[in-house]
Amino acid sequence: MKETGNIGIFDSGIGGVTVLKEIIKVLPNENYIYYSDSKNNPYGDKTDKEILEICDNIVQMLLKQNCKAIVIACNTASAKAVGFLREKYPQIPFIAIEPAYKMVHDYSYEKPTLVMATKGTIESEKFNLLYHKYDNHKTELLECVGLADIIENGDKDQIEKYLQKTLGKYKGKIENVVLGCTHYPLVQHEIKQVLGGDIRFFNGAPNLAIHLKDVLAKNDLLHNNLGKIEFIDSQNLPEKKQRFFNILQTSMN
Ligand code: DGL
Repeated sequence: MKETGNIGIFDSGIGGVTVLKEIIKVLPNENYIYYSDSKNNPYGDKTDKEILEICDNIVQMLLKQNCKAIVIACNTASAKAVGFLREKYPQIPFIAIEPAYKMVHDYSYEKPTLVMATKGTIESEKFNLLYHKYDNHKTELLECVGLADIIENGDKDQIEKYLQKTLGKYKGKIENVVLGCTHYPLVQHEIKQVLGGDIRFFNGAPNLAIHLKDVLAKNDLLHNNLGKIEFIDSQNLPEKKQRFFNILQTSMN
């Protein structure tokens, strides 16, 4: 193993912490630079052009910080920008999260399913290809407009109200839930409370972590270091940093 740099990871805020925590379980000795783009949150309602520009700027910044691979820890950014980024930066491995709908097909095909994601993800061509390929014909697609934003701000009352209002009608009718935005695992417990019954959650982050390790190994980019995590927020908000590390610490215990 040789020392070859950092792993860059970004999201429209702190939601990508749910991806980073899975990565750290698999790759504890890598160094990470996490970029939380709270200034541009939410990405879910932005145009494709805006997302491409935002992602391109973040990638340029991460490359200046010696990143050897980049994880897009945002379903919306992945859906819209990963093709463009791979083409523009062919020398860099990009590992991109996507809604874990294939897992429903593979492990729980018969059950009524709810895919929760941003409007941007649900409308994207990339997600639609995935959806039509693995359609179990018992799936509801739910555009959770504004939910990532509310989770980002962390107001518990507002989160509960939102979930009651948007998920109430599915109570008792759903058995699989695809968490198609990296902010949503942070409120998995609250989602379960509203939906009731026996819910199985599908989150793409654990598989992404394994895939990242394979890609690094194949490219001879595995790095044995101290496992440092640097956090950068695009608005430089100290409370974001605090919340990010609190969540990370709690979820690693
Ligand atoms: N965490 C992002 C995702 O996975 C949130 C998108 C947003 O900012 O709207 O889609």
